[in-house]
Amino acid sequence: MSDKAKRNAATAAVALVEDGMRLGIGTGSTAEQFIRLLAERTGAGLSVIGVPTSERTADLCRDLGIPLTDLEATPSLDLAVDGADEFDPGLHLIKGGGGALLREKIVAAAAERFVVIADASKRVPMLGAFALPVEIIPMACRPLSRRIADLGAEVVLRQGADGEAFRSDEGHWILDCAFGPTITDPPALATTLSALAGVVDHGLFCGMTERVLVGADDGVEEVVAG
Ligand code: A5P
Repeated sequence: MSDKAKRNAATAAVALVEDGMRLGIGTGSTAEQFIRLLAERTGAGLSVIGVPTSERTADLCRDLGIPLTDLEATPSLDLAVDGADEFDPGLHLIKGGGGALLREKIVAAAAERFVVIADASKRVPMLGAFALPVEIIPMACRPLSRRIADLGAEVVLRQGADGEAFRSDEGHWILDCAFGPTITDPPALATTLSALAGVVDHGLFCGMTERVLVGADDGVEEVVAG
């Protein structure tokens, strides 16, 4: 994805932001473009308050002067904007490549509108080429790896830069579950995964997305569920 395409998607999302809005602010390189553009508008006088979906996003917002709050103080949001790793024609998503899926889902669920920014490389006929992140309680790692492998995935425990198990902002581990582009029924897989003991959450976002703003070098396409 070129920076220009990301920026074009982010520009279209920032145009949806109105004075006084309570925002969910996503994580990842495309969301970062959104944050930088949003900061230009808040610097010019736009008044918003945001709930960040990760420590990384919170740090960037603070650096750029975007006012932040949390869901304790602000439990309902007007608009959440975030990236995605894949989206399908039904606007089901795979998210969590950056490890922030749990907070991302909580924030998106708290928002009246959830808008995704992405480029065409994220658009797939069927989800699953991108390994599905599943956030787990560490003690459940081995049994869950087996259970999810039995569902047809190749399962790898995500590692951090230090070679140890990656820890999410909430202190959990992540299993990257490569199903291949075979996820014919994302809501059914979501239900199955959620029912497994030790799964905190997973990167399937089903029935949450209002639209995807697909950036290209020369513009933006708006995709709604087909
Ligand atoms: C973060 O955990 C993810 O869900 C990101 O939103 C996703 O990985 C997209 O990131 P990019 O915009 O960097 O591709």
